[in-house]
Amino acid sequence: MAIQRKPLVAGNWKLNGSDSLVEEMSSALQKAEISSSDVVICVPAPYLAKFQSSGFDIGAQDVSEHDAGAYTGEVSAEMLAECGAKWVIVGHSERRTYHAESDSQVAQKAAMAIKAGLTPIVCFGEEEEIRDNGTYTDHCIAQLAAVIDVLGIENFAQCVLAYEPVWAIGTGKTASPEQAQDMHKSVRDFIATHSADVAEGMRILYGGSVKADNASELFSQPDVDGGLIGGASLKAEDFIQICRSA
Ligand code: 13P
Repeated sequence: MAIQRKPLVAGNWKLNGSDSLVEEMSSALQKAEISSSDVVICVPAPYLAKFQSSGFDIGAQDVSEHDAGAYTGEVSAEMLAECGAKWVIVGHSERRTYHAESDSQVAQKAAMAIKAGLTPIVCFGEEEEIRDNGTYTDHCIAQLAAVIDVLGIENFAQCVLAYEPVWAIGTGKTASPEQAQDMHKSVRDFIATHSADVAEGMRILYGGSVKADNASELFSQPDVDGGLIGGASLKAEDFIQICRSA
């Protein structure tokens, strides 16, 4: 019998936020009676402790690949856990692009997160030229294969994945539900070459210009298990509507 995967909506505030947004968002989510087990908000690290009282799961947006030591500016997975984080995004395309993070660094970050008891949300996705030249499936599978190589399939099973086509992030150009489903299915089939059970249970979120008016159609695809939401996670009303769509 097929496993029922629980949908998840994760907000990614990126470099946005303030004390007042933390307050506004936690009270709006509570009032809307959104089930806290289905929502994660990934905030800038200084807001982790403040958001913790909301009762919603909170996550960080990056983590050091190191445990400790002379790495100025880095924050370790253990530290994030001590601040109340339960989740952490790794391998977001903005980290890969602006901070030159490699697949193996992303894999190491995921390993650190798991060791500290955090759930990594492992992002993967292709740039527009890769979409246009048709090699997007191979590109995405290579990004994930690097993570499986480091974690092993048993630890990989503890991750949540997020397909974020780079051309759809912050552009208003959403992948069509068919494009998202097609990629999610290919990724699930690839994971099944390692373990059919892990593939079946793996939650694969879609991210890239998800809005209140397109979320339902994207989330209704059989292999799309929720979303990773950027811009729309900063507006309580929109984010709540997206949570309801899942
Ligand atoms: P947008 O929803 O703003 O396109 O951002 C997507 C994203 O990068 C979430 O991590």
